[in-house]
Amino acid sequence: MKRVVALRRLKASHLQRLREHFEVTYFEEPERQPEAVAVALRQAHGLIGGKLQVTSAMLDEAPGLEAIATISVGYDNLPVDELSRRGILLTNTPDVLTETTADTGFMLIMASSRRLVELANMVREGRWTQHVGEPQFGHDVHGKTLGMVGLGRIGRAIARRALGFNMRVLYSNASSKPELEAEWGLEHRTFEQLLAESDFVCLTVPLTEQTEHLIGYEQCRAMKRSAFLINIARGRVVDEAGLIRALNDGLIAGAGLDVFEREPLQDSPLLRMDNVVTLPHIGSATHETREAMANCAVENICQALQGERPRDLVNPQARPSGFSEQQQEQSVDAK
Ligand code: DGY
Repeated sequence: MKRVVALRRLKASHLQRLREHFEVTYFEEPERQPEAVAVALRQAHGLIGGKLQVTSAMLDEAPGLEAIATISVGYDNLPVDELSRRGILLTNTPDVLTETTADTGFMLIMASSRRLVELANMVREGRWTQHVGEPQFGHDVHGKTLGMVGLGRIGRAIARRALGFNMRVLYSNASSKPELEAEWGLEHRTFEQLLAESDFVCLTVPLTEQTEHLIGYEQCRAMKRSAFLINIARGRVVDEAGLIRALNDGLIAGAGLDVFEREPLQDSPLLRMDNVVTLPHIGSATHETREAMANCAVENICQALQGERPRDLVNPQARPSGFSEQQQEQSVDAK
């Protein structure tokens, strides 16, 4: 029987499904037991879990590893090229979290422009009796211009929501999307044009060498003073020190952030700014979606370890032993 190491936040039902096929060792809090995790990995064929940290040294110690299933859509925390070189399949959980993460993005657009947290706190703290006047007013969302930086699944799902709010939607993307321009009226812009024209600049790009620190002080300066920056991508897409300086200098009106350069966010000036809404990286965190993500990852690891092509294979270029030429072809076609 193949052996699987499962890390954090799998429910009994998921573990049960895994145990129907594999010998499973589960660690609810792997950071508290790094040595036990390392010992289990030495014998493991599969690894499944959220927030996985995988290093070369760790892979050297896990010679039998065939597949890793991350319970996330993002995999910037994983060494994809190295996994491929070693013939280790990597899967993620796309699709199932698209709508929920788009809800989070739109929630941040609404919350930052309508000052939701600040005003809700005012009520909680018994300050409703104070005059609520112009200094507390927010800005409209409907009818404004949304600039999507990245128009993948989640970006498109946010754009769809924005159209329901009668917003104009611009996008900058490596490739233009003529079908979405024709059907939805989206407008393609260069990155610079998008910054200059948008009331909300919303980041949904994956973190890559090209997108790291895509937005910093200078890009904020290129935005409208009345604009908001929304980040549900990855923290490092934004140069946080530059953003803080831009907010201090009043270059933009505010920000709605679900992700940060260092998580958890601690002792940051962002936490003391009324015009910044900070969330603890909860883009996909609903009961329904986290359940769907775990199910998806379980399905993927089962397929990978049972010699099938996993549905959400990230690295079809990986060539595990026992994976036939024909299966390899199919994997590449499916991408
Ligand atoms: C994802 O699925 O990538 C979320 O951002 C959680 O990491």
